[in-house]
Amino acid sequence: NLVKKALFVKSSAKIEECPADGINEYAFIGRSNVGKSSLINMLTGQNGMAKVSQTPGKTQLINHYFINGSWYLVDLPGYGFAKTSKASRAIFHAMITNYIQNRETLINLFVLVDSRLEPQKVDLEFISALGESQVPFTIIFTKADKISKSALQRNIATYQEELSKEWDELPKMIATSAESKLGREEVMHFIDELNRL
Ligand code: GTP
Ligand code: MG
Repeated sequence: NLVKKALFVKSSAKIEECPADGINEYAFIGRSNVGKSSLINMLTGQNGMAKVSQTPGKTQLINHYFINGSWYLVDLPGYGFAKTSKASRAIFHAMITNYIQNRETLINLFVLVDSRLEPQKVDLEFISALGESQVPFTIIFTKADKISKSALQRNIATYQEELSKEWDELPKMIATSAESKLGREEVMHFIDELNRL
């Protein structure tokens, strides 16, 4: 087990409430229901640590988890959830944007996209905006257990094609499944590597 210890630290409504101890952190973001909380539970090997739900919009705060006594894993609310009111979408958007642009201890952002889908407009726009904030990011393809290997490879290739229209250098991409634990070692080793720099 790569995670020896995982502790929930706190939920914050804004960046000012987040831990101020200067410890490196790695955050997970993506559309509502894409599988952020499930992935966090899979990575930490602790089911039920992050709250999972079939109803989108479950995670509404910035959640910090302290891993192996050395870094924070951060679960963020989803973006682009159509069923919430326009006003609450705007509040989430401001919260996420402020976090991404101003959180100095954020080392890498993992952007989760559903591996079954063609690149979605809301995801592409979100990724595009990351270029302006200069935050290093990785694309995570979720729910890979729900499609065939060949469809997965095809969808990843489509994503690479789409992103190369705008980016000279493509971000790292990792396929994952909270069910089969696919991608667990790759994500954890990548974080470990970054954390040693
Ligand atoms: P919000 O907090 O609402 O933004 O959602 P989230 O991105 O945290 O998604 P969550 O982890 O709550 O998962 C949403 C639904 O997808 C749940 O019903 C999960 O069981 C399901 N799910 C998540 N990951 C996987 C996966 O890898 N495979 C399968 N088959 N289902 C998954
Ligand atoms: Mg969640």
